[in-house]
Amino acid sequence: MAQKTTMTVDKEFRIAKIDKRIYGSFIEHLGRAVYTGIYQPDHESADEDGFRKDVLQLVRELNVPIVRYPGGNYVSNFFWEDSVGPKEERKKRLDMAWRTMEPNEVGINEFSKWAKKADADVMMAVNLGTRGTDAALNLLEYCNLDTDSYYAELRRKHGEKDPYGIRLWCLGNEMDGPWQMGHKEAKEYGHLAAETAKAMKMMDSSLEFVACGSSNVDMPTFATWEADVLSEAYDYVDYISLHQYFAKKSEDTADFFALTDDLDYFIRSIIATCDYVRAKKHSKKDINLSFDEWNVWYHTHAKDEEDMADKPWRLHPHLLEDIYTYEDAIVDGLALITLLRHSDRVKVACLAQLVNVIAPIMTEEGKNGKAFRQTIFYPFCHASRFGRGYALQPVIRTGKHATAEHDEVTDIEAIAVDNEEAEEVTIFAVNRNVKEAVEFEAVLSGYEGYTVKEYLALEGSDMLAVNSAAEEKVAPVRRTDITIDNNVVNTWMKPASWNVILLGR
Ligand code: AHR
Repeated sequence: MAQKTTMTVDKEFRIAKIDKRIYGSFIEHLGRAVYTGIYQPDHESADEDGFRKDVLQLVRELNVPIVRYPGGNYVSNFFWEDSVGPKEERKKRLDMAWRTMEPNEVGINEFSKWAKKADADVMMAVNLGTRGTDAALNLLEYCNLDTDSYYAELRRKHGEKDPYGIRLWCLGNEMDGPWQMGHKEAKEYGHLAAETAKAMKMMDSSLEFVACGSSNVDMPTFATWEADVLSEAYDYVDYISLHQYFAKKSEDTADFFALTDDLDYFIRSIIATCDYVRAKKHSKKDINLSFDEWNVWYHTHAKDEEDMADKPWRLHPHLLEDIYTYEDAIVDGLALITLLRHSDRVKVACLAQLVNVIAPIMTEEGKNGKAFRQTIFYPFCHASRFGRGYALQPVIRTGKHATAEHDEVTDIEAIAVDNEEAEEVTIFAVNRNVKEAVEFEAVLSGYEGYTVKEYLALEGSDMLAVNSAAEEKVAPVRRTDITIDNNVVNTWMKPASWNVILLGR
């Protein structure tokens, strides 16, 4: 029998106030994220601007506060000027990143309008691959200024009177990757990032900037890249980016679930690197982390590579349309717990991506096509809705098991979030033990009089179950077999399950 887990939670033991932007997401001009994803004028649910209302409704359900745009790899050859102005005059462009045709029907102004409808801010990325500081400055002026200068005037001429006030800017994308158009060496990129942020801050000193970190933890330049980039750009930027995609390498589900231990190591290494540069520079400011791409991504790799090679220059083809399984949802839940555990330094994170492309929301194309929730929709939705407030540092005693490539994997991974205003505390927990249910006890201190308001869980025995437009096989269940007595919560967590226990007055 698996060892009982005890989680001690004290109201006073705060990690940090969670920055709501930790529940951000990402829309790239890639595959069907934009066209037939968020935008499809001939769809039965399309609004006056051509946006799918069925998709908007699901995006609002996820409560996403910020969306990164327009890439990704796409941004590294993005000519933003082509995406604005009268639609009939816009240039069709080849997108080399994904080898598709970009019609530029949706651009800066349309996306900003969509984000407003989705109740989300825009996190804008500038092209530091094939372009530089000048294009970034012009874009900033176009988006944010109310002056009578050329680009601000151009926006008004395009029908957009009010500036967008975009606060958070990404200085390029994955510039360490040899696949990136305009890939650079660390010092070279660091210098360009510093100069671009410096110039943009001259236009508006209140902006925040994200410098590119490593594309993933396995990059040969990992960590020295961050140290070199920050050595150049430390004073001008606020965040360093992290990207990580999880792939199941064998049939071993337990090993798949252990991948978030590597994520924890990744985050700790980057915090250490930021702090090393801070020490070296005798700086008084911290660089925080923008985990601006994370998700499971592996199901469609092989087919996508083949299609991009054999069928280039298609309009919104099916690319990166991973259909997520039950176990993928559990991995995303684990990733969310890990991000929350580091919420003192991870201030921004983007689930990559939002619609159709490695996404929680999928759409069928066609006039009457349906939109549906993938399995991974649920942990993200729960965390985003119930995970606002202060992350609390728990002490967890739990059993451990070994997997193919990981020793000492804990059974229960968990975090608690205190929403002081609502007088609620939520426990998010995953049972990584794929064979056995685990008895779970949470000992609460500082929450006298709290009762269990709701217990939601994703539970299943078919690790490969998926959702479709026709059937939602993976959806949360409401559990009632839970007790709270003298501030001690007790229940049993099913094997391989995602658990959300909402407590309140
Ligand atoms: O999200 C898909 C792609 O993954 C992005 O374009 C790129 O930044 C990353 O490699």
